[in-house]
Amino acid sequence: MIAMTSDGVRIYVFDTTLRDGEQSPGASLNVEEKIEIARQLERLGVDVIEAGFPISSPGDFRAVQEVSKIIQNAVVCGLTRAVHKDIEVAAEALKPAKRPRIHTGLGVSDIHLKYKLRMSREEALERGVDAVKFARRFVDDVEYFLEDAGRADPEYIYRVIEAVIKAGATVINVPDTTGYTVPEEFGALIRGIMNNVPNIDKAIVSVHCHDDLGMATANTLAGVLNGARQVEVTINGIGERAGNTSLEEVVMAIHTRKDVFKNMYTGINTTEIYKTSRLVSTLTGILVPPNKAIVGANAFAHSSGIHQDGVLKERTTYEIIDPRTVGITESKIILTARSGRHGVRHRLEELGYHFEGEQFERIYEKFLELADKKKQVYDEDLEALVADAASTVVQTYELVHVQALAGDKIVPTATVKLRHANGEERTATATGTGPVDAAYSAINQIVQAPNELLEFTLQAVTEGIDAMAEVTVRVRGQDGDVFTGRGSATDIVVASAKAYVQALNKLLDKRSTSKRAALTEELERV
Ligand code: KIV
Ligand code: ZN
Repeated sequence: MIAMTSDGVRIYVFDTTLRDGEQSPGASLNVEEKIEIARQLERLGVDVIEAGFPISSPGDFRAVQEVSKIIQNAVVCGLTRAVHKDIEVAAEALKPAKRPRIHTGLGVSDIHLKYKLRMSREEALERGVDAVKFARRFVDDVEYFLEDAGRADPEYIYRVIEAVIKAGATVINVPDTTGYTVPEEFGALIRGIMNNVPNIDKAIVSVHCHDDLGMATANTLAGVLNGARQVEVTINGIGERAGNTSLEEVVMAIHTRKDVFKNMYTGINTTEIYKTSRLVSTLTGILVPPNKAIVGANAFAHSSGIHQDGVLKERTTYEIIDPRTVGITESKIILTARSGRHGVRHRLEELGYHFEGEQFERIYEKFLELADKKKQVYDEDLEALVADAASTVVQTYELVHVQALAGDKIVPTATVKLRHANGEERTATATGTGPVDAAYSAINQIVQAPNELLEFTLQAVTEGIDAMAEVTVRVRGQDGDVFTGRGSATDIVVASAKAYVQALNKLLDKRSTSKRAALTEELERV
């Protein structure tokens, strides 16, 4: 089933940022954030949005359901194990979708069969066939994944694929689940499938690679060159462990190397790539490394004199992609307190955020407060505001004020004032190994939410000595959940304190939601 038109061969883009991408440690997104990303994915032009794994949690169920309601063009997909209950729940969540797809499947490598599934090859094959037939009772579009295909016996893979296509699978997903293969090998696996599965023309072959050896993009493209017509990717390559294949790399490789990917094209509107990358980074709290291909801060920066000279004479001497193709423009609009609603809304839309009604008003109000204090509001400030406003987390504490003393001959000391949602203000002073450590100790004295600081990242997001500092922290609460907080300010200590307070608010919100749920359960039981 190959989509060949007079324009060439269409490569379908299956985005799994909201499912596999969200499995990145600490990346958890709430339903509203998932909806925001799904809307942007549709503007980006992806063909399929994998919105979650509905049986895994009520939050995932609701995310798949809500995304199904709002998506107009793309296929909306829900993941399941090859289990009837999973499939029923996914079908229920996908009911509002215009074009629903159930993504089911099972392991195929001997390691998975023996240790994880404890099944023989025949049992697993039968289970897979049954799952596809069952899923077809609910939807016409069923994708079947062969988990750990990268380490499995190709002869067995051919048999499974033939059987599940016969049972009604419309898409066959061949994952390199552990990121183990090298491009030649993975390409040969796809070629083998195209040549040895008699009914392969009845389905689309999809590739789903992980980046454990840094070869996810290369393997995906090798798959495409050997017959795969769907690529499974995430924005910024986020995902389990070392991540998934990144959408922007695959799409731009196909776009840029037309000589290699002859006649191939995707439906992606490349000018939406950068916005989407920023949105996903802001909402997940996962920073994009500066040297990341296509969307990293340095991807189009030229620092050596020879390179700068070359680019000034002729851009193509050192640039293979015009940054405008991926939506990176030179212009950095700076807003001020005099910028009206129209200006703020326009800039937000250029950055990929679309807010209406009350939600926009909330952001605009926060914008005015910030513009009063800061005079100039940069894109990064707007992104930080959006991250706060899009969040439905109850803001138990607000940072009113932080002051720190540091130097090589004094004990670093910080004083912090926080305002509780009930209006009460509390101040604490503490010392530490540095000003940030001291500020965090002072915050801990007030908030009293035991946690472990797992990660602290600081980066400058604007240029010059007055650059905005952006801090991202990850903390682990007592019950093991990880929460991300982000803060930006021209002062490092202030940005750090904001980020920490944001992470603690998420922790407190989760704690009270869990308490409420336990209480409701107890009441229902009584
Ligand atoms: O990596 C993998 O094998 C997966 C499947 C569940 C599709 O994510
Ligand atoms: Zn995966």
